[in-house]
Amino acid sequence: MFAFFNKRKEQHKLQDKIELDMNNIPKHIAIIMDGNGRWAKERNLPRTMGHRAGVETIREIVKECNRLNIRYLTLYAFSTENWKRPQNEVNTLMELLVQYLRNEFDELNRNDVVINQIGDISKLPKVCQKELLSAYERTKNNKGVVMNLALNYGGRDEILHAVKNIVKAAKEDLISIEKIDESLFENYLFTSGMPDPDLIIRPSGEKRISNFLLWQCAYSEFWYSNIYWPDFKVKDLHRAIYDYQHRDRRFGGVK
Ligand code: IPE
Ligand code: IPE
Ligand code: MG
Repeated sequence: MFAFFNKRKEQHKLQDKIELDMNNIPKHIAIIMDGNGRWAKERNLPRTMGHRAGVETIREIVKECNRLNIRYLTLYAFSTENWKRPQNEVNTLMELLVQYLRNEFDELNRNDVVINQIGDISKLPKVCQKELLSAYERTKNNKGVVMNLALNYGGRDEILHAVKNIVKAAKEDLISIEKIDESLFENYLFTSGMPDPDLIIRPSGEKRISNFLLWQCAYSEFWYSNIYWPDFKVKDLHRAIYDYQHRDRRFGGVK
């Protein structure tokens, strides 16, 4: 009985012990933080409790990304479609955002994290906008991981936003139509100046993009798992990076 138990423990240890190649760490990881609702349902809790539990995961994952020297971590926190949810759930998500920024600020700042945001935040409650802008102002010169919180973010919305601003600039003769290429277009996206995500992680079992980084994901590696976001641990992040490091990225070329 004890021998069996010890063997199980040893195997688990082996599974957890993943050697990452520190010379091939993704520059940009993006995560669709999904499965909070189902995690809560399994425990007969309200969905909002799942979102609260999801915040704990964010804390650990940001810390680890920083330790691994990942440059950008984009976290999908609220999509342009999530407004369709019941009002009390939307309210809780907005309250959690403010609480998160207030409670975690000191530790994030101490860890040199830049607290950034992508998406159209003008539609968020004023208090959220204020906390986000203030967190960015106070951390923009930090040297650690840039954490992009994707809020009221939609890939289609982002592309339309870019198109409108490009047309406006063209009308004002600030750019000529011939000059519009991929690199100019990227300058008009919320992610302007950032590398495309190398790795996109989606826990919860869903295998879809749900309007996330549509332009930027052209050559991203995808990693899915059935684990719900509140149960997602540092070892799962390691597994995703390990798998990424064993993929053959060809970008349309040949070896
Ligand atoms: C993701 O978890 C969090 C947000 C979309 C804000 P969900 O709330 O989508 O969880 P499931 O998919 O219902 O389990
Ligand atoms: C995607 O999850 C958005 C976020 C994680 C913020 P959803 O739960 O909203 O996606 P769908 O509806 O299952 O595609
Ligand atoms: Mg979901």
